[in-house]
Amino acid sequence: MTDTLATSSARDTIAILRPPQPSAPYAGPLAPLLALPGVTDVLVNEPGTAWIDRGRGLERQTVDLPDAEAVRVLAVTLASAGGRRLDDASPLVDARLPDGTRLHAALPPIAPECAAISLRRVRSQALTLDDLAVGGMVSGSAVALVRELVRQRCSALVTGATGSGKTTLLASLLSEVDPTERILIIEEAGELQPDHPHVVRLVERRANIEGSGAIGLPLLVREAMRMRPDRVVLGECRGPEVREVLSVFNTGHRGGFATVHANSPADVPARLVALGALAGMSQRTVELQAGIAFDVILHVERSGGARRLASIAVLEHRDEALVAIEAVGWTAKGWRQGPGWQALCAVLGGWTPDAAA
Ligand SMILES: Nc1ncnc2c1ncn2[C@@H]1O[C@H](COP(=O)(O)OP(=O)(O)O)[C@@H](O)[C@H]1O
Ligand SMILES: [Mg+2]
Repeated sequence: MTDTLATSSARDTIAILRPPQPSAPYAGPLAPLLALPGVTDVLVNEPGTAWIDRGRGLERQTVDLPDAEAVRVLAVTLASAGGRRLDDASPLVDARLPDGTRLHAALPPIAPECAAISLRRVRSQALTLDDLAVGGMVSGSAVALVRELVRQRCSALVTGATGSGKTTLLASLLSEVDPTERILIIEEAGELQPDHPHVVRLVERRANIEGSGAIGLPLLVREAMRMRPDRVVLGECRGPEVREVLSVFNTGHRGGFATVHANSPADVPARLVALGALAGMSQRTVELQAGIAFDVILHVERSGGARRLASIAVLEHRDEALVAIEAVGWTAKGWRQGPGWQALCAVLGGWTPDAAA
């Protein structure tokens, strides 16, 4: 079968179809870079230079930041725009700027020679699945399949490396959720902006400078259960909250989502086991619970500038161990069926994916 969209040359270009987002005055000399079409990251770690990522690898730009002090002042200004403090007593910050941009900054001596600023643009409006198809991230044959997974309330783990597009794909999936449903999002930084009329967001709170007042993700997942969710979504699972997520997805709450950092679907079971260990869970318990909790793994990859939903896998127990089995995969040349295909069809209750046509 020919997959016309999979062979499209339009990779990651959807951003240029949209007007540039408004500039951020507090970003000083970085504001014009943040406003460039398609820019996802702006990074500074020495005077005079910024690196930008707009889908073709990092590009060096000259900026008016004459010395290390200017970089430090900018880092502090950005942090305060995000309502956070950044100084010698508190030299690391992770914050969200008023326009949604995510800021990380480290001051000397943690970043020894010069403050390090990392800015990640976050879309104020989610890309839809159709947008992702036009841009080449989700191939034509995958769109109907993914839509059906959402419609049938399958529970999914979105996996991939950092910056591969997990959050972007997840937001597009949530935008497909029926408007009569209530989505509970638990997040570290308030990144997910799905196009959906009924979203409740719980964002974790870090400890204050005295080390108290933290409200972490595990507690928020438990609280979310008392808020009558139809869909429970954990923006990023990277710590002991995996225990609560597995518990929620094992107790009748179908149709939820979480993202997990993993370089390939095959790595997912080990990654879940490692996270579970942080919560005192044994390997066996994590594997047993994860096998029930998640119907599918949606794995995204970035190679060169192109981000792609690269495969869908199912979790199965083989020889007492949990393994991810590829059901379908996509490359620039088209799609392929994997050994988990029948299991995926079973998950979909007999619905035949387009890709099988
Ligand atoms: N298909 C896409 N088209 C354009 N930009 C994208 C696409 N997917 C992701 N991005 C951008 O790439 C950056 C990283 O994506 P993100 O979804 O946050 O990755 P992850 O959650 O895997 O770290 C974001 O700025 C996002 O807006
Ligand atoms: Mg993310």
